[in-house]
Amino acid sequence: MTMPRSATIILDGNSTELPVLSGTIGPDVVDIRALYAKQGVFTFDPGFVSTAACKSAITYIDGDEGELLYRGYPIEQLAVHCDFMEVCYLIKNGELPNRPQYDDWVRRIKTHTMVHDQLTRFYQGFRRDAHPMAVMVGVVGGLSAFYHDSLDISNPEHRLVAAIRLIAKLPTITAMAHKYTTGQPFMYPRNDLSYTANFMHMMFGTPCEEYKPNPVLVRALDRIFILHADHEQNASTSTVRLSGSSGANPFACIAAGIACLWGPAHGGANEACLKMLEEIGDISRVPEYIRRAKDKNDSFRLMGFGHRVYKNFDPRARLMRETCHEVLGELGLHDDPLFKLALELERIALEDEYFIEKKLYPNVDFYSGIVQRALGIPTKLFTGIFALARTIGWIAQWHEMIGDPEQKIGRPRQLYVGAQQRDVVSMPQRA
Ligand code: SDX
Repeated sequence: MTMPRSATIILDGNSTELPVLSGTIGPDVVDIRALYAKQGVFTFDPGFVSTAACKSAITYIDGDEGELLYRGYPIEQLAVHCDFMEVCYLIKNGELPNRPQYDDWVRRIKTHTMVHDQLTRFYQGFRRDAHPMAVMVGVVGGLSAFYHDSLDISNPEHRLVAAIRLIAKLPTITAMAHKYTTGQPFMYPRNDLSYTANFMHMMFGTPCEEYKPNPVLVRALDRIFILHADHEQNASTSTVRLSGSSGANPFACIAAGIACLWGPAHGGANEACLKMLEEIGDISRVPEYIRRAKDKNDSFRLMGFGHRVYKNFDPRARLMRETCHEVLGELGLHDDPLFKLALELERIALEDEYFIEKKLYPNVDFYSGIVQRALGIPTKLFTGIFALARTIGWIAQWHEMIGDPEQKIGRPRQLYVGAQQRDVVSMPQRA
């Protein structure tokens, strides 16, 4: 029988044993929950580089090996053998569905694809040129105003119906955000189409003629959804968990996740990456931008490169590059100059000492913008697509957090570096 492992902290001669916990795979953790009570000190880890905030059984990433598992299944296998609805079922329930379970899951989601008709007026309050992410944060947050019958998070059925409503309605809400900016009418969902084909119908269809989705493009977008579905405790997922830890309703928590995802260092990187490629414009200018990315005095970063966890390749970037080839081939866009520029930028960056030393590899956002642009998705909507796909991950992580007996309201401490206590001087006496 192996002895339980522990870590010893000795501070001013005071020694504390802290238990070491092991998971199924991946690094062990030092359980520091008793540290403050025993030693009167906090740990300090801005950005949570070395801090595990929870236990989770949903997703595992091996940053050194470039591995990504959803419920133990490698992303490479899921992207080839499954569709997004199967992956949603897997992430939410922990197992891949059999045929009856899949059919029932798809049926339940299809019966929630419409939004309350009054919600369509919500869009009218935005300017036509509003960024779709601003619209999505508002509209998803507003959903809780329509579902007073299912906001009791202690009720398992309420939690399930809220999850199904969010998975079902995000495509409708995202497509409506797009249609609103174009001035075209909103398209009602079509339940005779698959989840992803229906999204493309709502995005690109019009009332004037039947929209016939291209199966190759539907499959490509479905794979993009799979690749973005979940990713451990990234910034937006941690935002959802922290929001949910206060007991906030799931619609408000997902709206908070969308807001966080919008940042260019996170989910906004795909939009920023395409803008960067368009700004570079020509292969001859790549060296200038590589130099800028290395210049500490220049805030420019190579968007779509680097990752907090992946210190080797991001397996999603490889799959996204394959999808890029497929889509550009299907559309006869092999010579897409941006794709060629991206391939050359990737090649040069991966040969550069700085990127090798800092282990900066292309991440999921590097190619996704090129694929989405080829699919006809406007640049401003790229992060909205990311939010649509990540909703299943957010809601599954929220669900896991609610059900975790060890979870309590998230309330980090701090290292205070402000003023010592001092007395107020009334205004006339102030210098
Ligand atoms: C996503 O967490 C997730 O899982 C996120 C995500 C998900 O699915 O949820 O995978 C999705 O957000 C992917 C990442 C998309 N963001 C970008 O592509 C934006 C560009 N990348 C960087 O901003 C950065 O790499 C981060 C934010 C992704 C990671 O930042 P870290 O882990 O905090 O690393 P860091 O900023 O401390 O960088 C380490 C070093 C630094 O140099 P030094 O200070 O050590 O000298 O590498 C440098 C950085 O300057 N660096 C870069 C760089 N990224 C890091 N230099 C140039 N270009 C870059 N892109």
